[in-house]
Formats: sequence, structure tokens, C-alpha cells
Amino acid sequence: LYFLSVLNVLQFLSVCSPCVCGLQVLPPDVLTRVSEYVPEIVEFVEKIVSNGYGYESNGSVYFNTSKFDACPQHSYAKLVPEAVGDQKALQEGEGDLSISAERLSEKKSQNDFALWKASKPGEPSWDSPWGKGRPGWHIECSAMAGSILGESMDIHGGGFDLRFPHHDNELAQSEAYFENDHWVRYFLHTGHLTIAGCKMSKSLKNFITIKDALAKNTARQLRLAFLMHSWKDTLDYSSNTMESAVQYEKFMNEFFLNVKDILRAPTDITGQFEKWEAAEVELNKGFYDRKSAVHEALCDNVDTRTAMEEMRVLVNQSNTYIASRKNAKLRPNRMLVESIAVYLTNMLKIFGAIEGSDAIGFPMGGQGQSTDLESTVMPYLSVLSDFRENVRKIAREQKVTELLQLCDVVRDNTLPELGVRLEDHEGLPTVVKLVDKEILLKEREEKKKMAKLEKMKIPPSEMFRAETDKYSKFDEQGFPTHDAEGKELSKGHSKKLRKLYEAQEKLYTEYLEMNQNGN
Ligand SMILES: *[C@@H]1O[C@H](CO)[C@@H](O)[C@H](O)[C@H]1NC(C)=O
Ligand SMILES: *[C@@H]1O[C@H](CO)[C@@H](O)[C@H](O)[C@H]1NC(C)=O
Ligand SMILES: *[C@@H]1O[C@H](CO)[C@@H](O)[C@H](O)[C@H]1NC(C)=O
Ligand SMILES: [Zn+2]
Repeated sequence: LYFLSVLNVLQFLSVCSPCVCGLQVLPPDVLTRVSEYVPEIVEFVEKIVSNGYGYESNGSVYFNTSKFDACPQHSYAKLVPEAVGDQKALQEGEGDLSISAERLSEKKSQNDFALWKASKPGEPSWDSPWGKGRPGWHIECSAMAGSILGESMDIHGGGFDLRFPHHDNELAQSEAYFENDHWVRYFLHTGHLTIAGCKMSKSLKNFITIKDALAKNTARQLRLAFLMHSWKDTLDYSSNTMESAVQYEKFMNEFFLNVKDILRAPTDITGQFEKWEAAEVELNKGFYDRKSAVHEALCDNVDTRTAMEEMRVLVNQSNTYIASRKNAKLRPNRMLVESIAVYLTNMLKIFGAIEGSDAIGFPMGGQGQSTDLESTVMPYLSVLSDFRENVRKIAREQKVTELLQLCDVVRDNTLPELGVRLEDHEGLPTVVKLVDKEILLKEREEKKKMAKLEKMKIPPSEMFRAETDKYSKFDEQGFPTHDAEGKELSKGHSKKLRKLYEAQEKLYTEYLEMNQNGN
């Protein structure tokens, strides 16, 4: 199906072939080597000559473009007609830039191109009716693809830069061989991959293998980055590009986790007969509109970029709905959010961004691990979460702060280490999510940093003033002198507080210095 492009991609991938699976790239059905196809190539050239479209000249064979173009059945340079006569493109294509003007004169017309080239002494060569030589660049594709796919193929892939002269010449010589006008029904010319805005090349030292890329991002994130771009446009591989893909994955993942939590919510009723109010009717309309938009985008030249964007809008609409229901202390409609999540999961499966058979969301436990981690551990986590919630409720009523602290430790320290996130929402059931441990630990670091920053911002003179439940009088520096009942603080108590006060003074000074330095 793909010919050259598959060959190119696979040359690229062969650096680490297991990646092909990780990236969800389907393996090709057949791989070909030019050196194994020389007899087919010679036969191909002979037939072009006998059909009247080629001529021998000093041991080489050339394609007569004006003869071909003059035929009513044929047309030369169907892909890029305006490039005919572009000698620079043609000579680059032919590898002619380095050869002598004398040799160039073998061609009877400037627009003709080589089918077979006489080899100079020392060059690789094969026997042929025209003497020792080697295939021209374009002929190899025609002969190999023709020998496997016959006189016509539906789709031919390749990079945008291959349109002229390579694919135009491939088309001309193949149609001259088969005497038809439909050797390829459609070409898919893909955009280039650039690295931080530059063409990837060894000399620029910005050459990145898939292995390098996979050290920075997961296969799924790479795939999402490609999906978020139109296949025919240039894709720039940069930290910005990858960050958008990472954010997209995160946005989708949070949605899937929220929906799974909603579906798991302990229930007295089955959720099947929840009445639709205006909010549900509106979300459902949004769902159908977005589904149609995704379908239209894919029908429009496989525009995955727009499809992915429509999917993002659908999640946004669903999030808005879920949040409004939660604000009103109402349960989101389970059948509806489930339908949306299943639809999005299916689309991402079609796009190869979700592997496995889970009905909703990205598989848990990372690549290669058991994918039913979630169904295994969630019943236990639910028990723990409900138990913890009841303990917190009682602890709050009875003012047992030690128990509340223990509950916080479970949420903030113990469970993140195990890849579990608990989200407490006042007055609502706790949300349980399985999240990558690394992400949770990073979140915890961020939270600690933010908490420290918040604490640093408080001037020591203010730190006790708010605690009117403990102290009733303060000195001019804001240091407490009397407790809530109006009794003077004991020496020991003062000493303890003084230590806290001094520690805060240090933090606050640090904070002021930080701000002076423009941080
Ligand atoms: C190429 O074809 C043109 C048009 O049919 C013809 O006039 C010309 O002689 C051909 N050139 C060669 C070298 O055969
Ligand atoms: C013919 O080819 C040989 C080498 O293959 C080259 O030395 C010679 O100059 C060529 N003659 C013409 C007329 O192009
Ligand atoms: C998401 O939804 C909110 C509220 O409906 C809206 O204000 C916002 O623009 C939306 N964002 C995107 C990216 O669609
Ligand atoms: Zn080709």
C-alpha cells in the first residue's frame, strides 16, 4: 500500500524495531530490496522502450517525456505540472548535479529522465541488454510495486518533497509500461517532520531517533502529537508540541477517571431511570453535534487535528455539565456521561492511542502491565475510601484532630505512593482515581512548594493574630500574651511560641529577599 514511505519509515524505525509495536504502527505486509529486483527492472525498462517511450543512448536508457505527453491517453507531470522544465529539481532527482555536461548530452531533451544508467568503472553494476549499468532512481519503485500490486494501486504514500520529479516520473514510466492512466488512484503526500523549526539532518546534529523520542515521551504521547496535526502539514517536533500532547492526554485522562468515579458511585438505584432535565438534553445535543463534527472532519481528508479538537470541546462541555451538577449537589446522569466516555474511548482506539479492551479510558498500570488493575483494586479502594470518610465525619463532630490528621496522611502520603489519588469534595463523596505514581509524587512536591510559599508570605506579626480561639491579647509585635480565657501565658508556653515566631521571621525574611530578587 505505502511503498516508498513505508520503506523510509521502516529504515528509520529499524534502529529499534520493537518500537513499531509500541507506537501502534501496523507492520507492512511486504518489504522489498532493489538489489533483488534487477531482473524485473530490466524487463520493465525493455517494455517501456518497446512501447515507444524510451530510448537508449550511450549505454543508458532515457524516458521520452515529450513522446509520452503527446499521447492523448497520457499526460506528463500530473502531480506538479508547473514543475516541468524545472531543471534543478530534475537534476537533483536524477543525481545529475555531479556529472559532466558531456554525459548530460546523452539525454535528447532536458526534460527526459534516466530509466537505466550505464555504470562507470568501479560503480556497482548489473548486466543488461545495454551493457553494465544500474537502475535509475524512479524505476525501482515502479518495478517493485508493479510486480506486487499489478497495473494499479489505490493509495501511494510518500513525503511532500517526492511529488516532483520522483512520483511524477514514477507515474509516467509505469503508465507507459502498463499503457494505462491509473497506475495510482490517490497519492498521500505527508508533511515533513521538523525538529524545533529546522529540517532534521545529521549535519545540523538535530537528528532524533524514535528511541530518543521515546525516552522523553510515551508512545501514546507521540501518537497524540501526530494526531493533533494534519498529516499533510509540517509537524514540528519540539517541547511545545509534546507539551500540548501531554496536556491533551492529561485532560482526557482526568475526564475518564471522573466518569469512572461517577459510574462507581455507591448507588441505591441502578442509574438507568434518571430523568433528563434541560442540562442533560443540552449535553446530549452537544454530544451529537460534536460526533457529527468529528465524522465530518475525518471525511474531510482524514483531518485528525480537527477531530481531536472537537473531542476536546466535547470533554469541556461534559466537564461543565458535571461541575454544574456537583455544585447543585446533584448526581451527573450516569448513562449519558458513560455514553460520551465510551465514544471518546472508541475514537482513541481507532486512532491507535488506546490499546486494550477497557470500555472507558486509558489502560491502567502503564504499558505492558496488567490492564485490569483497576477492576482488581477498585473494590478495596472504595471500602477504604468510604471507611475513611465515615471516620472523618465522626472525627469532625467529636473534634478529634489526630484522626483527621491521620486521614490526611493517608490521602497525601500513603496512597500517592501506591498510585492512588483521593479527592475530598466538601459534602460530596470522595473521588477515587488511579493515577501514575510519578505524576502523583510530582503533584505532591508542587503542593508542598505552594504550601511553603503560602506560609512564607505571612509576616510573623500576623501569624498568631488570626488564632482568636487560642489567644486574646497580643503585644505590639503581634506576639500573644494572654490565652483565650484572658489568662497570661505561662513562661514555658511563651517560649514555645517564641520559637515558632522566630522560625516564621526567618521564612518571611527569605520571602522578602526572594521578591527583591525578582523571583
Ligand atoms: C521523443 O519523442 C518525440 C515526440 O514523439 C520525437 O519527436 C523524438 O524524436 C523522440 N526522441 C527520441 C530521442 O526518440
Ligand atoms: C558515453 O559514456 C562513457 C562512459 O560510460 C563516457 O566516457 C562518454 O563520454 C559518453 N559519451 C557521450 C557521447 O556521452
Ligand atoms: C470550556 O467551557 C467553558 C464553559 O462552558 C468555556 O467558557 C470555555 O471557553 C471552554 N473552553 C474550550 C477550550 O472549549
Ligand atoms: Zn518511489
